[in-house]
Amino acid sequence: MTEVVVRAGDGFGRISPRLYGTFAEHLGRCCYDGLWVGKSSPIPNTLGFNSAVVEALQELGPSLIRWPGGCYADHYHWRDGIGPVGDRPGTLGTSCGLMTPDDNSLGTHEFLGLCELLDSEPYLAGNVGTGSVQELADWMTYVTSDVDTALVRQRAENGRAKPWGVSLWGVGNESWDCGGRFDAVSYALEYRRYATMLRHVAPKAELVAVGLEDETLPESNLERDWNEKLLTTLGPAVGLVDHLSVHKYWLNGGPETDFGEADYYALLAEAGETEALIERTSRTIARLSPGHRIGIAFDEWGVWHPEAREWGPGEVARRPPLGLEQANTMRDALAAAIALEGFHRQCNVLSLANMAQVVNVLQALLLTDENGACVRTPTFHVLAMHRPHVGATALTTVVQGGAVLPDGSPAVSATASRGKDGIAYTLINRHLDRAVAVSVSGLGLAPVRVTVLTGEPDAQNDVGRPDRIAPRPLEFHTVGDDDLRFTLPARSVVTAEFGDGQVQR
Ligand code: AHR
Repeated sequence: MTEVVVRAGDGFGRISPRLYGTFAEHLGRCCYDGLWVGKSSPIPNTLGFNSAVVEALQELGPSLIRWPGGCYADHYHWRDGIGPVGDRPGTLGTSCGLMTPDDNSLGTHEFLGLCELLDSEPYLAGNVGTGSVQELADWMTYVTSDVDTALVRQRAENGRAKPWGVSLWGVGNESWDCGGRFDAVSYALEYRRYATMLRHVAPKAELVAVGLEDETLPESNLERDWNEKLLTTLGPAVGLVDHLSVHKYWLNGGPETDFGEADYYALLAEAGETEALIERTSRTIARLSPGHRIGIAFDEWGVWHPEAREWGPGEVARRPPLGLEQANTMRDALAAAIALEGFHRQCNVLSLANMAQVVNVLQALLLTDENGACVRTPTFHVLAMHRPHVGATALTTVVQGGAVLPDGSPAVSATASRGKDGIAYTLINRHLDRAVAVSVSGLGLAPVRVTVLTGEPDAQNDVGRPDRIAPRPLEFHTVGDDDLRFTLPARSVVTAEFGDGQVQR
């Protein structure tokens, strides 16, 4: 018996490819040992990047990559990472309490080379904490200019004659905390100076200001009205802000794998509240920047389990040594899908998003071991299942009927879009143990493919069982030409695609 009927309606905005970004920080084993193994490594590599990681990322196609931090960005001096690798200094890599030696072998040329290899847009995070306006203006010149200057000649001597097309530049990171513990007014004045001078160097650069909209962060000394103070202080200079950065980590799901039912639903509920954070940010922007569009740069998001941090909620033993590495389960993939659904609904105000992080750290897409073996996490797969929505037109959806969760909220939700190949729906069933029969309309198009990701809530992939959680075809039948019927398993994400092509089962 059909329990849930899902119908898509009108288009209301474009799901920018920039909403499907990732984040690579020089932190723990994300950049070094994860992405980058070096050109002389015994691990097969492509220009120094682990080839298995490159292959997986080419398959996924992240549209945007933020680098080099995070908190690390406010310690990063770009000149340390150019020129012959043997001449680069060893520096202290520091972020989130980790202190690791950094040989700077992964620098500007290498990172931008990776972006070219993956066809991903780069997003460079600039140093405000220990840097200077001159240093960031020089980096921008070095990367983007074609005017004959010493910096541009130096770039050519280092192997790159033509500039890279980098549009997105962050002016600091979490400047209210690790980026220098600014107060909002001081940061606004600093931002104004940076942005004015950077615009002289690259008038079309898109600049990202640091915002704050996370009511649940445990630190008590944060200015909860940071965004309001920042935009008010900028006043007539608010036009210098193209994007306002906000971050959100979900902290309240209890243990990473050994969680109970209440923890399971708590994490999914927290992921669902992410949309409200975006809406609050959007309202502040609309109120204080009328007539000038500022996009919301959600440039760090995802789950941060208690085992992988020394702060915040969670009565769970921390796991030394702290490397910000954590389990990545089916529950985490469901949480990611819930957030993505909200991103689609907010696509007219959300300008970019970067999940934290790409390899090994936090809600990683990929995990590597010491031999370079690379495993796709459930989170990787859930993002891959959203590919039909990337760059497509978001459609309104109506979900009628269906099971409810213990708190009375609906178990099933859906997002839909119309792209060049047809219409795609992605549905989520949050229920821990109840399957739901669904009817989905193809709006005149025929079903092509239905794919499901499901499994035990704590199930993960590892080198021994890399495909334990992986997308599989889902059985369906049609009633009439375009009414698609299938069963959403408990704890599942399903993407149903309609088009003119052949049915693939
Ligand atoms: O992603 C890990 C850290 O979380 C980043 O360095 C920082 O910006 C945030 O606090």
